[in-house]
Amino acid sequence: MTPDWLKDGAAHVWRPYCQMQTARPPLPVVATRGSRLILADGRELVDGLASWWTACHGYNHPHIAAALRDQIERMPHVMFGGLAHEPAYRLAKRLADLLPGALNHAFFAESGSVAVEIAMKMALQFHINSGAKGRTRFLSFRGGYHGDTLATMTVCDPEEGMHSLFSGVMPAQVIADLPRDAASEAALDALLTERGHQIAAILVEPLVQGAGGMLLHGPETLRALRRLADAHGVLLIFDEIFTGFGRTGTMFAMQAAGIEPDIVTLSKALTGGTLPLSAAVASTRVFEAFLSDDPEVALMHGPTFMANPLACAAANASLDLFEDGAWRGEVARVSAGLAQGLEPCRSAPGVVDVRVFGAIGVVEFEAPVAVGDLCARFAEMGVWIRPMGKLIYLTPAFTTSDADLALLTRAIRKVVGVGSPLAD
Ligand SMILES: Cc1ncc(COP(=O)(O)O)c(C=O)c1O
Repeated sequence: MTPDWLKDGAAHVWRPYCQMQTARPPLPVVATRGSRLILADGRELVDGLASWWTACHGYNHPHIAAALRDQIERMPHVMFGGLAHEPAYRLAKRLADLLPGALNHAFFAESGSVAVEIAMKMALQFHINSGAKGRTRFLSFRGGYHGDTLATMTVCDPEEGMHSLFSGVMPAQVIADLPRDAASEAALDALLTERGHQIAAILVEPLVQGAGGMLLHGPETLRALRRLADAHGVLLIFDEIFTGFGRTGTMFAMQAAGIEPDIVTLSKALTGGTLPLSAAVASTRVFEAFLSDDPEVALMHGPTFMANPLACAAANASLDLFEDGAWRGEVARVSAGLAQGLEPCRSAPGVVDVRVFGAIGVVEFEAPVAVGDLCARFAEMGVWIRPMGKLIYLTPAFTTSDADLALLTRAIRKVVGVGSPLAD
């Protein structure tokens, strides 16, 4: 049964990452509850993705819902230029307290891509303000993904990313391999010796390159990047839009490496997945490079809906939920469930790897999978799983029950065709 609104609107909605001529119709969702999507025909699907990795506490959490109801009655939105409101100021202080070291100055925006663009702009202007000329490029990494806007496309993986069509349109950045050992650190050091004077910042997703393939690297890689950035006078930006807020088992991935970047970008789970909000949080050193009697030295940026009070209220409520620390046990439980449930897939034909890290579980195939067909098969099995490239992966809410986790991993085992004692 297709609802009327879907029939009437289908010709007018341009859907994301979608060949509109051939794509299957989307599934109509009418409500969410916990870790479940409720479809128009009444079916419930266990959500394996937490809506693109955002809904870390599950959907419709009563504490976040209450905070939103309270805020919407009082003040859904005001401009942030020249005005201040408690939800944003409280949130900025809480983020500064939560983030390690000197990451103390939050600039708010509405989406992850825009936060990355702001971080890039901060880095470029940091050098301009500091009198360093010619640092107009960024160093980023193969396998990386930082967004779909024009500037962020330039720092994504140039071939494997979704943006190769646009190569040549925007300035070419310096794209390298992540340093994983002494030899590759030395190679990156040599590259920076040659080109470091052109580089404003190194940009990396710490520990997990998400949309580029859920590729893992260790904390030593991040420490190497910190060493190299310092040695070559380059800023270091961590894009924690995916990894932030517990997904990898620590509050922020950087904490596993015991180092801090000069700027960190946050979004996705910042509001517990309820409203769009992002932040580029700068260190005091970066922030102070923008202080002057000269207005030209200021950061000239201000998205219309920046620091939206509703979104900030949701983020504060989400941070309340993190406060008792129970999430650590939940992430560990989900991680164990993913490992147990997905491990049998390793022996399936076409599978080249199974990896689990924090609340992220991945089955990687040797070739890209048929996304639309698989989504439909998964939905028939009562789960919402949308593969990506060569991956079938799960990034469920931390609150997903063991029973729902088992449904998710069993559906994947069935699809890859592994016989296992767990399969029934
Ligand atoms: C690491 C990372 N950076 C940036 C983005 C872009 O965020 P948005 O889709 O909110 O623009 C994403 C989105 O998946 C991401 O995973």
